[in-house]
Amino acid sequence: MKRPVRIAITGAAGSISHSLLFKIATGEMIGRDQPVILQLIEIPQAMEALRGIAMELEDCAFPLLHSISLHDDFEEGVLGAHYVLLIGAKPRGPNMERNELIATNAPIFARQGQAINKFANRDVKVLVVGNPANTNALIASRNSPDLSPAQFTALTRLDHNRTLGILANHTGANPKDIRRVAVWGNHSSTQFSDLHHATIYGSPVLQQVDENWYRETFIGKIQSRGAAIIAARGHSSAASAAQAIIHHMHDWINGTPESDWTSMGIVSDGSYGIAKGIFYSFPVRCDYGRYQIVQGLEIQDFAREKMTISQNELLSEMETVAELLPRETEKSHQNLSVCLRSGTTLYDDGISLPDKHYLQTDRVR
Ligand code: NAD
Ligand code: LMR
Repeated sequence: MKRPVRIAITGAAGSISHSLLFKIATGEMIGRDQPVILQLIEIPQAMEALRGIAMELEDCAFPLLHSISLHDDFEEGVLGAHYVLLIGAKPRGPNMERNELIATNAPIFARQGQAINKFANRDVKVLVVGNPANTNALIASRNSPDLSPAQFTALTRLDHNRTLGILANHTGANPKDIRRVAVWGNHSSTQFSDLHHATIYGSPVLQQVDENWYRETFIGKIQSRGAAIIAARGHSSAASAAQAIIHHMHDWINGTPESDWTSMGIVSDGSYGIAKGIFYSFPVRCDYGRYQIVQGLEIQDFAREKMTISQNELLSEMETVAELLPRETEKSHQNLSVCLRSGTTLYDDGISLPDKHYLQTDRVR
């Protein structure tokens, strides 16, 4: 049996988490042979609801669910975490753009970035889901000067999956037979869903669909899908977001299939002429826990224009949050061991969390 890994999740009593936690506990995210410790984080007002969710998780008797701890303190909840899923944030309502959430949500990610820097496992992988996800990932990463920006990612897999699902429905193909779609840019209404390199059963997609439909209808439909769901449901996407989180983390950890790639919001290294430093969605291949931007794709003028619009939106979001982006990289030399607290040792990785946070049952203690 493998040693358990620690997964810290914010917004754990929210809508996305309600679908997500049960999938993680079955092994869908990391692997069906990997025990997990869930470190669930919420705001104080939601702790009672969170306790109820923890009871339900326990009642599922998942073999891989090693233990659960509940936290209303982020610093404590992220202690020793190998994976951090930053979901907790306000969702947008009808007729709002995601970047209108900046004023409310951005400061959360600065504080969380600082805490991840100090308390998470040094090899931590972080996924930012709370909107505006790309800019929040930038903020979290810049506030974690001791970690590599490559350890931080933003969720654009939902846009990638929407591209596959809607294209499959339009063409009658099975989504599994569609390869090499790409989502470029911001998780916003400027994102660009690129079918120029995509294939169905090995043949180019753009030879199988009307290019006018692609340009005039399809791209806009993916860009506004989140808003369409909010208009129809009254709440933003939750189950599909949870599925996308599972896919994103699964591929990052376990790799993408050889003949395909995926899309992830990651720090730009200047590839494809995209401004360095912003968190931008690129097509990536993952292998052995790392990702690499797919290089060498031919970018035509139509695509370039759309990619640039989304880049410019991200640059402008970066300006808006400038005061949350420390310029100096001050190395923190604090040893993780000084952060450890006394309490019940969960298992012998040297991490202890205060006793009161474990669910009070025999199984999890
Ligand atoms: P929700 O309102 O149902 O749940 C959010 C939860 O986060 C709440 O329980 C709240 O108490 C908690 N929370 C708020 N601030 C917190 C903090 N500082 N620490 C810990 N917990 C905190 O919202 P949801 O539907 O789960 O969506 C969460 C976020 O994810 C929203 O910002 C939404 O816009 C975003 N989202 C992103 C994508 C994407 O593809 N990137 C997809 C769907 C939703
Ligand atoms: C989505 O894409 O569904 C989420 O980002 C929620 C939203 O605000 O659209």
